[in-house]
Amino acid sequence: MKEKIKSIEQEINSFEINDLAILEKFRIEFLGSKNKLKDLFGELKTVPNEEKKEVGQLLNGLRTLAEAKFNNLKDSLENNSQESSSIDTSRPGEISEIGARHPLMQVRSEIIEIFSRIGYTVSEGPEIEDDWHNFTALNFPPEHPARDMQDTFFVESDKGEMALRTHTSSVQVRVMENQKPPIRTISPGRVYRNEAISARAHCFFHQVEGLYIDKNVSFADLKQTLLYFAKEMFGENAQIRLRPSYFPFTEPSAEVDVSCTICNSKGCNVCKYSGWLEILGCGMVDPAVLESCGIDSKEYSGFAFGMGIERITQLKYKVNDLRLYSENDVRFLKQFTGNI
Ligand code: PHE
Repeated sequence: MKEKIKSIEQEINSFEINDLAILEKFRIEFLGSKNKLKDLFGELKTVPNEEKKEVGQLLNGLRTLAEAKFNNLKDSLENNSQESSSIDTSRPGEISEIGARHPLMQVRSEIIEIFSRIGYTVSEGPEIEDDWHNFTALNFPPEHPARDMQDTFFVESDKGEMALRTHTSSVQVRVMENQKPPIRTISPGRVYRNEAISARAHCFFHQVEGLYIDKNVSFADLKQTLLYFAKEMFGENAQIRLRPSYFPFTEPSAEVDVSCTICNSKGCNVCKYSGWLEILGCGMVDPAVLESCGIDSKEYSGFAFGMGIERITQLKYKVNDLRLYSENDVRFLKQFTGNI
């Protein structure tokens, strides 16, 4: 009898249970209505009286052992099965798609980085501007026809009539009003013009304008700064040329072309077979603008330049429709994932 108990004890201990179905088998075998222990309890009456107590205790111990094993495993298997129904740890992980910075923001950062290497800080200002900062301080007198160069959106506000800034030159006015020369800063930002949306024009776009004011700043400094920028942005072989132009706030003024990066100046349909692509406007800050902003034009001179980020991005990445930048088509944006 004692041997039978021993062997069942071993059976209980070595019974391997790793899921609920096997646990149920265990229960039927050792705790169910016709379990193995019952047979032994039945046999108890054949045991000599003096051993009955001891064997009875052994049998009770056996039942406690089976019950304890059953309860323990039941708990842990039920917990596990709940977890495994929600998390399958053997499945490959879910890969979340990595987004990309918008191409305009990538080029914006690149422009900022290029100018920061030669000591330019970054200045920002409001997108809703007053007439003074967007026009008057920049030498556009009221009613002057030059105001029509930049078709303006006007907004009514409690401060009177305001405008959505048409260029970030307005930020430069704010910098000149608040800082003493030497000033070396660029102002990146969004600007608005009332133009019909097409492949070549949009009602908003992005600019980076630059301003350098110090004693004895010359046109040669401007030209070298822009040549440095063109080489950093478009490669060591890039060349620039300046054509005379007109802006109310600079005198003299120029438009700057860069040698066509697409055909290496051999002539293609992007540069219209001229070998050159227009990239920005620039000039020496008009002394009247310096005076408007409280800077002594006899002591200081300076240059300014302004470029469209869309235009630079178009030339760098050969994007030929301005609308692509604001449509948020993932197929377009995805092409810029591998960049900075
Ligand atoms: N503000 C001009 C524009 O938006 C660009 C420019 C800036 C030209 C500075 C000359 C000097 O068109």
